[in-house]
Amino acid sequence: MGCEEEGLEGVYLDTSSICYIDEKRGELYYRGYDITELPEKSSYEEVTYLLWYGMLPKMRELEDFRNKLAEQRDLPEEVLELMEMLPKRVHPMGALRTLVSYMGNLDGEPSVSQEDVYRKGLSITAKMPTLVANLWRVKNGMDYIEPKEKLSHSANFLYMLHGEEPSPQVEKAMDVALILYAEHEINASAFTVMTVGSTLSDYYSAVVAGIGALKGPLHGGAVEKALNQFMEIGSPENAERWFFETLKAGKRVMGAGHRVYKTYDPRARIFKRYASELGDPKLFAVAESLERLIETHLAKKGVHINVDYWAGIVFRALDIPPELYTTVFAMGRIAGWTAHLAEYLSHNRLIRPRLKYVGKIGKRYVPIEERG
Ligand SMILES: CC(C)(COP(=O)(O)OP(=O)(O)OC[C@H]1O[C@@H](n2cnc3c(N)ncnc32)[C@H](O)[C@@H]1OP(=O)(O)O)[C@@H](O)C(=O)NCCC(=O)NCCS
Repeated sequence: MGCEEEGLEGVYLDTSSICYIDEKRGELYYRGYDITELPEKSSYEEVTYLLWYGMLPKMRELEDFRNKLAEQRDLPEEVLELMEMLPKRVHPMGALRTLVSYMGNLDGEPSVSQEDVYRKGLSITAKMPTLVANLWRVKNGMDYIEPKEKLSHSANFLYMLHGEEPSPQVEKAMDVALILYAEHEINASAFTVMTVGSTLSDYYSAVVAGIGALKGPLHGGAVEKALNQFMEIGSPENAERWFFETLKAGKRVMGAGHRVYKTYDPRARIFKRYASELGDPKLFAVAESLERLIETHLAKKGVHINVDYWAGIVFRALDIPPELYTTVFAMGRIAGWTAHLAEYLSHNRLIRPRLKYVGKIGKRYVPIEERG
């Protein structure tokens, strides 16, 4: 049974100056800057600064911000010990959730003031690549690789994951991916982060809850699943049969559809360009065949390609294991979560919506012996 506000569709929680989505024109702006411009011209560090402080940094400010991030990449010894202890079968998103939660215990200051959010946000944003790359290495029996301060945020992640520094082209593609995933208004994980923050719990609890929300296949978990579906289809000729069988079975095509956009996701266009330049041509051809079917048969329902559709092909070209895709999404999105938490805390009010009760009331309590 539904009601008008099912899934909080179309409900505004607050005002914000962080992100604007024009759902009809398929446009996206971070702090007023068009997403079609930022990935080419900017860097993940600069975009994070922009999202947090509301303006593009001057040269000195960016250098300072970069240095502060680079200095905080190392993980506490206790986190490395816990990483070693995690069962090898744990999915990287589950591992990331546990490790970030533990970092909250080690921090020892369970507060969520606005100042604290930026301080802890800087520390966690800096450490996310170290966590993601190394939880994968440790899970697969490889040695821990320490971060290199001289590398950019993106290059350092790929260096720790692969044990060698990436080419400038690969580094740029990684950086573009993190920029595209950095922020997207009040999506399910940002809402979760804000809800936890609004209770005046602590920064880590809010981020851990956000990671939990992002993990689901209807949200960030779709990146990995979208790539798996291209593999399953195997060749462009199989796309049509696979597509209609999937719909007939009542299943969803992964990487398609969005609660807000009723157009092609502007981030997906950028990912598609990188997928065509760097990705496996065979997989790209499969995805293009499926894309045509989606745009022909599902557009009438407002279902179009979303950000997660092409991202997996790009990540695969960067030699990132599919199981890590959603953790890479989290690595980017930590910037947006932190920005929203800080903004909301500047005028915090407990988030507490209502549910329309449709059950009966006034029932007589029947003692258990009389219930038959
Ligand atoms: C993202 C998503 C959860 C948004 O869902 P939503 O706003 O609640 O949309 P609804 O579930 O109301 O769907 C509206 C209609 O489109 C259909 N639809 C939505 N997404 C679809 C998809 N990916 N594949 C096939 N049909 C889809 C629904 O079946 C529904 O059809 P109906 O009206 O005939 O029942 C949904 O599009 C989805 O499940 N996508 C796949 C997962 C994904 O890629 N997630 C990442 C999002 S960035």
